[in-house]
Amino acid sequence: MAFQGLKRFTQFFMSSLGKERARRTTRKGAARARVLCIASGKGGTGKSVMTANLGLYLATKGKKVLILDADLGLANAHLLLDMQPRYNLSHVLNEKRSLEEIIDVGPEGLQLISGGSGISQLAALDEYHLFLLIRQVAALEEKNDFILIDTSAGIAPQTMVFLYAAREIILVTTPDVTAMTDAYAMMKTMMQKNPETRLSLVANKTRSEKEAKGVYEKLDRVSQKFLSRSIRSWGHVPFDKHVSRSIVKKDPIIRSFPRSEAGRAIANVGKRLLTDGPKEPVGDRLEKSFEQAMIGQG
Ligand SMILES: Nc1ncnc2c1ncn2[C@@H]1O[C@H](COP(=O)(O)OP(=O)(O)OP(=O)(O)O)[C@@H](O)[C@H]1O
Ligand SMILES: [Mg+2]
Repeated sequence: MAFQGLKRFTQFFMSSLGKERARRTTRKGAARARVLCIASGKGGTGKSVMTANLGLYLATKGKKVLILDADLGLANAHLLLDMQPRYNLSHVLNEKRSLEEIIDVGPEGLQLISGGSGISQLAALDEYHLFLLIRQVAALEEKNDFILIDTSAGIAPQTMVFLYAAREIILVTTPDVTAMTDAYAMMKTMMQKNPETRLSLVANKTRSEKEAKGVYEKLDRVSQKFLSRSIRSWGHVPFDKHVSRSIVKKDPIIRSFPRSEAGRAIANVGKRLLTDGPKEPVGDRLEKSFEQAMIGQG
């Protein structure tokens, strides 16, 4: 991993962060958001569709939700939600604006930090600036119930930074053999670096119940065998042409085609997300878990 200097930076910043954290955690209503990264080993598995829909689902349930589009491949969350954000990550990375300033508000009060043209810059950021970015995201924890981070496929360092920082990851895979192999590789990397990660699997574009069950069972089996832990399933979403139709309509499927197979299935994932959360109280965590993962790195 190309982050040899990160450990040094992390330690260097711990003292200043400690101060800020102490200030935040002693304040009433301190950090409380559940931060979930939506990840996959292979591209095109349906992460962005899942993120936009889950975000909207949670928002319709009255939750305060922020989506951070950190997809290095193609930042497209705003397109899926029919939003035209004025600012994007590039305005933060150029240090002209804070993350909070560039939040755009969409349907049902859903908030979005768009990747936009900031994405190529994100890919080039050094560890110091990535760390500062994580710190800004962490500062938004106390203002939201959920922060959903849409990442790019694979294990690019700029993606892994977010995966290390989040305590919860929704791993999206299709039944395709290469997608499954890449999903396992990603699980392995994440669990080795951050063993506390709460990993939930969503099988997408499945063709039958049986196939969906097989996806979970295979990944769970290799996880138990080689990583000595089980993964949880948050269900499956069938292949459904309504998904692409909802994209054309720029209206997430849970709203545009709520009774379609995929629409209902994604809403069920949303229900699982709401009911299957961490037991321990949600505290100040994003920077902390990021630090822990980095310090644990060889
Ligand atoms: N359940 C589904 N049924 C049919 N098509 C789907 C389904 N889920 C996603 N798709 C299609 O798969 C394509 C990729 O979806 P999406 O952009 O969400 O994937 P992604 O994982 O974010 O991709 P990337 O890795 O490029 O960011 C889209 O064209 C979408 O229409
Ligand atoms: Mg995507």
